[in-house]
Amino acid sequence: SPSIPLVVAIDGPAGSGKSSVSKAVADRLDFAFLDTGAGYRALAWLMLDRGVDTADAAAVVAELDTFDVEIGTHPHRHFVRVGETDITEAIREPRVTAQVSAVARVPRVREHLTGLFRSVAEQATEAGIVVEGRDITTVVAPDAPVRILLTASEEARMARRSAQITTQSAETVAHALRTRDRADSQVVDFMTAADGVTTVDSTHLDFEQTVDAVIDVINTARTSQ
Ligand code: DC
Repeated sequence: SPSIPLVVAIDGPAGSGKSSVSKAVADRLDFAFLDTGAGYRALAWLMLDRGVDTADAAAVVAELDTFDVEIGTHPHRHFVRVGETDITEAIREPRVTAQVSAVARVPRVREHLTGLFRSVAEQATEAGIVVEGRDITTVVAPDAPVRILLTASEEARMARRSAQITTQSAETVAHALRTRDRADSQVVDFMTAADGVTTVDSTHLDFEQTVDAVIDVINTARTSQ
């Protein structure tokens, strides 16, 4: 019978390199990869598309029944779809990013997406799956055999994010990031490692070194199982 995929849970703030590092780790290990932030972003996109005010929690919850989201889990062929619409690129737009914290703080939204993420992880056909987000180590997969908090100094995170977003000034990006971190950290604490979670601080590591550090943590956990 097919074995249960090994879940690698990775949490951290925006700009910690979480997404690209998780993807590269999954790629190296031939694991699947799940970007849970994409689920929250897809719902925020849908609210903009349907003209729903994200400040109205009940109105957002009412849309969950018809929220048909699909998140690709192959590290090379990442995609996000709502219904028939491909929104892989659209969910990265600043107008979506600006709405995402409002939908993410609604408890029913979190329950709904948590259920979705768990079923995606269970159904992975690869040997393992890297699941990245804000509450994976604590809520989505607290029993995962590998749980990592990927951090970096605020300065390093701002610099990385503004290098990614070339359409806005460094000040605008930094302000948006700080505002979002503040809002998000009121919902889940992704700045401190929960019990049993290994911290990988990437402030002084380059991309490859960070990927290696995460793979070291995974291999250590695997051999001690
Ligand atoms: O990682 P990201 O920036 O794509 O995440 C988008 C938003 O989704 C972020 O502002 C917080 C929210 N989020 C969350 O609340 N829980 C998760 N597990 C992942 C993301």
